[in-house]
Amino acid sequence: MKILFYSSQPYDKSYFNRLGGDMDLQYLDTQLTEQTAGLAQGFAVICAFVNDKLDASVLEQLKKGGTGLIALRCAGYNNVDLQAAADLGIRVVRVPAYSPHAVAEFAVALLLTLNRKTHKAYNRVRDGNFSLDRLTGFDLAGKTVGVIGTGQIGQVFCSIMKGFGCRVLAFDLIANRTLEADGVSYLPLLDLLEQSDIISLHCPLNEQTRHLINRDTLSHMKKGAMLINTGRGALIDTGAVIAALQSGQLGYLGIDVYEQEEHLFFYNRSEEIIQDEQIMLLTSFPNVLVTAHQGFFTDEALSEIAHTTLNNIRAFANKQPLENEIKR
Ligand code: NAI
Repeated sequence: MKILFYSSQPYDKSYFNRLGGDMDLQYLDTQLTEQTAGLAQGFAVICAFVNDKLDASVLEQLKKGGTGLIALRCAGYNNVDLQAAADLGIRVVRVPAYSPHAVAEFAVALLLTLNRKTHKAYNRVRDGNFSLDRLTGFDLAGKTVGVIGTGQIGQVFCSIMKGFGCRVLAFDLIANRTLEADGVSYLPLLDLLEQSDIISLHCPLNEQTRHLINRDTLSHMKKGAMLINTGRGALIDTGAVIAALQSGQLGYLGIDVYEQEEHLFFYNRSEEIIQDEQIMLLTSFPNVLVTAHQGFFTDEALSEIAHTTLNNIRAFANKQPLENEIKR
């Protein structure tokens, strides 16, 4: 069975080739779009990533080319038109959990860096500047942390923040009883926003959560609060967040995901004039930290992603039940 990877990076080849010696794996570094879908002609399986576009028109082209399975090598599936896939008879699988620790720990890294300014300290000391001026942070112990989405990643994040001695509040459609037993309190969204010093987003992107953080919800936050987003870029209305940073309503922003990231992330754009004015503005603010979707990027997570994705494909090839199938 021939498998075509879109948006592949050298690390994908390294982890998948190590575990997929029994398969015909072919790699493209180009993203999957309407313009590139034709390259998949004759491939029964397409392996796609977070910024590949799997809308109805792309899926129709893939179907014509003989594709029967979309194997996402990620957890989120907001980039796939599941209804169109179902109508075309294309099945979609994903990696529901590979390492919730990887992403939760990375959210903590963003939080700690923004707070204690270790990125600035590193540069200063290397430059012979040993001044502490403007490096003041705050103790995490005793602060209130609001967690939106307490699934696999959010749950680990809650536990880490409890370990720092924080009061942890949560908002989710379903309360996690284990977390409640550990002292995490579930509150309505606006109450969580009003009480939290730090807010971290760990819910999926869907119709209900798109622009969950907007002008109105930002106005409910404590003045000077910190917002961390390792979920998906469009959970945040970027324009509204920029305005809140400019007014001082939002004190800190740490994002590993960005609303327009498909035009930027995962590629070296350092020799280009970047046309995205919002990212240029955000990266100019001293209290903003942007990383390029690397929350998942640990050895453990990459191994697990390759392992589960290849097993998903083997199950499809062997006409076995697809335990990680996403259905609408
Ligand atoms: P999960 O499915 O285990 O948990 C998601 C939680 O969000 C569930 O508890 C669900 O009930 C809750 N939720 C759903 N709709 C909600 C709503 N309207 N309001 C509040 N809560 C809601 O997912 P997991 O594995 O914890 O991942 C969360 C998200 O993190 C993924 O959807 C993905 O977008 C993102 N992610 C980011 C990565 C990165 O590298 N930055 C890597 C992996 C995932």
